[in-house]
Amino acid sequence: EQKKVIFSGMQPSGIITLGNYLGALKNWTNLQDEYNCLYCIVDMHAITVRQDPAVLRKNARELMMLYIAAGLDPEKNIIYMQSHVSAHAELAWILNCFTYMGELSRMTQFKDKSQKHSDNINAGLFTYPALMAADILLYQADLVPVGIDQRQHLELTRDIAIRFNNLYGDTFKVPEAYIPKVGAKIMSLQDPTKKMSKSDTDVNASISIIDDTDTIIRKFKRAVTDSETEVRFDEENKPGVSNLMTIYGAITGQTMEQVTNEFAGKGYGDFKVKVGEAVAEELKPLQNRFKELSSDKAYIDGVIKKNAETASYLATKTLRKVQKKVGF
Ligand code: ADP
Ligand code: NA
Repeated sequence: EQKKVIFSGMQPSGIITLGNYLGALKNWTNLQDEYNCLYCIVDMHAITVRQDPAVLRKNARELMMLYIAAGLDPEKNIIYMQSHVSAHAELAWILNCFTYMGELSRMTQFKDKSQKHSDNINAGLFTYPALMAADILLYQADLVPVGIDQRQHLELTRDIAIRFNNLYGDTFKVPEAYIPKVGAKIMSLQDPTKKMSKSDTDVNASISIIDDTDTIIRKFKRAVTDSETEVRFDEENKPGVSNLMTIYGAITGQTMEQVTNEFAGKGYGDFKVKVGEAVAEELKPLQNRFKELSSDKAYIDGVIKKNAETASYLATKTLRKVQKKVGF
């Protein structure tokens, strides 16, 4: 039996956080044997908001290295830059013509981002979901691991695929959301009602996956909790403590009950340091590997080139089929 295809991506909009790592990247490394996976660095999506070109290029390259450092094997997964495979833009244009203004207007990410970047509400920001649909449909992906924030876009991708298939006959695989067995949504350390994000301006709110041990422990010591002393999982009333427990559980593989038992009778001080140490320990090998990769320019250049060729080959097969169907 043929392995199922998984497609996912991240924007190269800065060094990724512990949230990206525990919510996405760590899970991805567990999929590489069971599935055929494509992990894209979506630099074309990134320019829907203003980017400094040199910074964008650096971020994209670093994200590639972080993928590999986290354990994604570039021989087993297709890891590549979106902009290096022109079929993404070509299919996105075609899909734009099969996507309605009304559908795009209902996307909550567009509403959020156009509020946040009100000086630059460009057409790309609006048609972002058509490009995302192209990303996924080009590779006939079966499964797409997405966070809650991307569910609405994936729904639209499915609608576009079904619409096209109805008009022109079977062309695209209709993808489904992949829900990881262990998935964690990690919240801000300073405001545990908001998700941890790389675009947070408060440095204490998020753990960068290249923060050193001292920085990590300091940030956890400063994490917002509550006025009680008991380590107990209660997301509604104790969101700060619950978030730290989630992080600890995701790293040690323990259930919330086991984490509760481990810290029974201990204060928040001990608990926070323990969580910090566990995170630092988890990230250490990744950080060492990242450092090594940073000094091996030729290797990374080779991976970037080779994987873009493989992705292009696969993408072009679908694109040609689509072009023929629409009459090119
Ligand atoms: P960010 O909001 O940090 O810029 P992205 O939108 O680039 O993150 O998301 C990349 C991946 O990381 C997605 O799969 C997303 O669901 C996941 N992700 C982002 N933030 C978190 C978080 N705080 N907890 C868990 N997963 C997250
Ligand atoms: Na996001």
